[in-house]
Amino acid sequence: MALILGIESSCDETAVAVIDGSASTLDARIVAQHIASQDAAHRPYGGVVPEIAARAHAEVIAPMVAETLADAGLTLAGIDAIAATAGPGLIGGVMVGLVTGKALAMASGKPLLAINHLEGHALSPRLADPDLAYPYLLLLVSGGHCQILEVRGLGDYRRLATTIDDALGEAFDKTAKVLGLGYPGGPAVERLARAGNPKAVPLPRPLAGTAEPHFSFAGLKSAVLRAHESGKYAQADLAASFQQAAIDCVVDRTARALASLEGSAPPPTALVVAGGVAANAALRGALEQVAARAGLALVAPPVKLCTDNAAMIGWAGAERFAAGFRDGLDVAARPRWPLDANAAPARGAGVKA
Ligand code: KG4
Ligand code: ZN
Repeated sequence: MALILGIESSCDETAVAVIDGSASTLDARIVAQHIASQDAAHRPYGGVVPEIAARAHAEVIAPMVAETLADAGLTLAGIDAIAATAGPGLIGGVMVGLVTGKALAMASGKPLLAINHLEGHALSPRLADPDLAYPYLLLLVSGGHCQILEVRGLGDYRRLATTIDDALGEAFDKTAKVLGLGYPGGPAVERLARAGNPKAVPLPRPLAGTAEPHFSFAGLKSAVLRAHESGKYAQADLAASFQQAAIDCVVDRTARALASLEGSAPPPTALVVAGGVAANAALRGALEQVAARAGLALVAPPVKLCTDNAAMIGWAGAERFAAGFRDGLDVAARPRWPLDANAAPARGAGVKA
């Protein structure tokens, strides 16, 4: 494997990393990395404002590339390829990172790899442990996506489930907004939930126990809002009860997906959770039990690799570089880019592929 410069700018983190695909420890594989969070810029609006995000990426990305290369003790001449997120995400931000990657590739004559951000999340457990073998069952839970995928190999994904409305991280963020916990909401809800009673507030578990494989969180979010407005419940109890309901849904859907793979050949080597919400300790604990019941281990990358970062983009680039993939400088930025282009559409109006 090789030295890859990774660039990520699809949402509200600008991130640059240098990955050494052949190093034997995680610390050595991440040669250098920088992450600039835009939380402070978006906080007054209670969510990510696309125009502010794109501008903020453009302001910091070039110096961040220079700093990251300097930290790695490298110049572009020592890099084997440049891997930049090309989607899915907020298109203005994606374009900033992809155009930066293209410019660096053109100036250095090094190959460009256009990376699907979701593939970055999907392969992040292999950055932490390259011995994690394909195929594995992946629960991908982030601010924009909530999917269960069979990861059969590099670039070979079969989507088993997706959300018919909100993503799991979005449900955490909206609950945080209702409770006045600010942005980003997931970590704040998790912190407050530790002080609350998860059984205090009766909340629905949308789609749990149903034969269809998908997720739904919009009804849960509305129920949290109604319970909050009733004035009957303490903030911590609302947070804990929401988190428990959301986790119950995820557990039910994941167990269903695992059961649907029973007898499949080759069988999954592990249950893997990745994406920003995989940072949630209560979710990890519940999934460990789901995996154990199916006779599998739960694999979750370290928390710092769960939320958006460029190390996972560089790693996806390293896997693609080693497999011989190369992209042209005319590759387009994509607001939507499903990992499984053949997945049947899920029912529902606001479906997120
Ligand atoms: O993967 P990510 O950094 O960005 C996207 O690609 O969307 O995921 C961000 C999402 C946000 O919705 C955030 O609230 C959620 O992950 N999140 C959490 C936790 N940490 C981050 N949700 C629940 N518990 C957490 N500890
Ligand atoms: Zn992400």
